[in-house]
Amino acid sequence: MDYQEFYQKSIQQPEQFWNEQAKNIDWFKAPETILSKDKQDYNQWFEDGELNLSYLCIDKHIKDGFGSQNAIIFDSPVTNTKQHITFNQLHHEVSKLAGGLQVLGLQKGDTCIIYMPMIPQALYAMLACARIGVIHSVVFGGFAPHELAIRIDDCKPKAIITASNGIEIERIIPYKPFVDEAIAKAENKPEHVIVFDRLLGVEIPKKNYDIDYTTLVEKSPSIEAVSVESTHPSYILYTSGTTGTPKGIIRDSGGYATALKFSMKYIYGVDEGDTFWAASDVGWVVGHSYIVYGPLLNRNTTIVFEGKPIRTPDASTFWRVISEHRVKVMFTAPTAIRAIKKEDPEGKFIKHFDLSCLKYQFLAGERCDVATLTWTEEHLKVPVIDHWWQTESGWPMIANMVGVHLQEVKPGSSSFPVCGYDIQILNEEGEEVASSVEGYVAVKLPLPPGTLTNLWGNPERFKAGYLDRFPGYYFSGDGGYKDEDGYVFITGRVDDVINVAGHRLSTAEMEEIVASHKAVAECAVFGVHCELKGQKPLGLVVLKSGETSAEIQIKKEIVQDVRREIGAVASFRDVLVVNRLPKTRSGKILRKLLRNIADEQQYNIPSTIDDVHIINEIKSVYQSHHIGIHK
Ligand code: COA
Ligand code: AMP
Repeated sequence: MDYQEFYQKSIQQPEQFWNEQAKNIDWFKAPETILSKDKQDYNQWFEDGELNLSYLCIDKHIKDGFGSQNAIIFDSPVTNTKQHITFNQLHHEVSKLAGGLQVLGLQKGDTCIIYMPMIPQALYAMLACARIGVIHSVVFGGFAPHELAIRIDDCKPKAIITASNGIEIERIIPYKPFVDEAIAKAENKPEHVIVFDRLLGVEIPKKNYDIDYTTLVEKSPSIEAVSVESTHPSYILYTSGTTGTPKGIIRDSGGYATALKFSMKYIYGVDEGDTFWAASDVGWVVGHSYIVYGPLLNRNTTIVFEGKPIRTPDASTFWRVISEHRVKVMFTAPTAIRAIKKEDPEGKFIKHFDLSCLKYQFLAGERCDVATLTWTEEHLKVPVIDHWWQTESGWPMIANMVGVHLQEVKPGSSSFPVCGYDIQILNEEGEEVASSVEGYVAVKLPLPPGTLTNLWGNPERFKAGYLDRFPGYYFSGDGGYKDEDGYVFITGRVDDVINVAGHRLSTAEMEEIVASHKAVAECAVFGVHCELKGQKPLGLVVLKSGETSAEIQIKKEIVQDVRREIGAVASFRDVLVVNRLPKTRSGKILRKLLRNIADEQQYNIPSTIDDVHIINEIKSVYQSHHIGIHK
């Protein structure tokens, strides 16, 4: 098929294009209105259609005669467990858990937080919510109780579903105690906490609100999927923004199902029945779309992997999983490949496995450096596809659509806009720039189905953050350029969002925590280059005059503060004490300048800087602490 022709049709006749794609979904009530406006004059898809995501992921396949196909393969090197779960078994687990949620009083439109490690029960929980129209909000396990409390107060869940523990390599992570701590901190108390006991031999503190997951499932009736409107929110997924408060991305149901089904075929090139593996976590958007809903909607076997690319037990794990479970398409973050490459630079482990099943290796979540891409291509000997998207979009926006036609891979580029996304590179004034000129990456409205519909409880922030900057466009927050052949190169965020090991974090949030330390007069937190994780946060602090505590103690406390408030996932380890920070004459801290100096990038000293000598002071602090990409 010709990509250009297919793509142009999606842009020029979006209603016709997506109406056609929606026919690949088994609707309870097929939509007649394809594209319309919601109460806030924002686009919505398939307004009058009705369906159920859980039904589409499970019941439909059983009805079609595939009940005995594996829906999920759970592979957990950290517990030495492998489990194959068929669609029939998935149906049993999900429909009874949904029955249990109903018995506890959860109804369509209620919210439910899921805070779980990478175990099949996390997927059961998501699908059980979807089955009865309960809006789930999965919170990544690396976030601390404080972050969980913020999300509890924002989406006010009626219940939280959690597990006793998670396992990080060899360390037991206390999930349930974190939930208790978060509830104690939150103003809105959920009625129930449903706890899946992993029987790891660790004592779980008991609370009055606890409900045992296993008993609940055993005792509850199995229930059918309810019909929900296409526009009914399937989930809220919190992501980092440019302020300290995370934003709750809202996803619809019908648009999402249509887009995911489309993407499995045309972007990832998988057929029904194939095995697909996204080595991510259900707490991230990749987990929602490509561990759970995308593959299951497409009747693919999905892998739930509880481990890391290295140390579980070594850098061969990924290749073992691909080979053993006959994975056709795999998706991970470039960081994971860098971690493997560091341990096994020659790719010797790869040669121990039969990887003939693997057709494509996809990478996303952060910028993919050329060295990582070429190493992967060289050793896996399959096309390596970098593709670009975000929590907000829910599915890829720029990709080499291998299911349409595999185009030449240009290292450093995520290739071409995906059908439905009219990607344009704009200047400050909102005008499209010439090819090879860097600008802001924006998407002309309407966005295709499956993308965010609003922010939970905050339509003003939705409008201000995404729509107002360039009227008529969705602004992604990324910078980039198109080359003369139309390949898009993403150069990175243009705001305070950073990407650490493929995990999206807000430096503004970290800065708020650092600033609240009693010894800190002022501070700046920004992302600097990291050989392994792509970026890592760096904090510069100016201490209050007369501060007598030892610097080393203050730094330790600041690092602990960020870990306690945000969580281990912040990877905040570096704090430097400086005498002053570079500012404009109006008092704005020049964070971009600080970052560029640290990354040894070219920089211009702004004419508005209050004191130019400060640059040399900062450079010498960096040098004495070995900050810099070549160090
Ligand atoms: N629950 C609890 N803690 C978690 C966690 C989870 N689900 N995930 C990560 N953490 C903790 C880690 O244990 C670590 O704690 P530590 O500071 O006490 O060591 C901290 O958060 C930072 O984790 P991470 O950034 O993952 O670093 P790492 O050194 O443990 O591992 C990599 C490095 C590269 C192996 C790992 O980051 C990785 O696999 N990255 C790929 C990421 C990915 O797939 N992202 C998905 C987006 S597409
Ligand atoms: P998240 O919402 O966590 O998926 O993070 C989205 C952000 O990650 C994007 O806005 C980009 O800054 C970055 N990102 C994701 N994929 C890529 C990619 N392939 N290339 C460059 N940046 C990427």
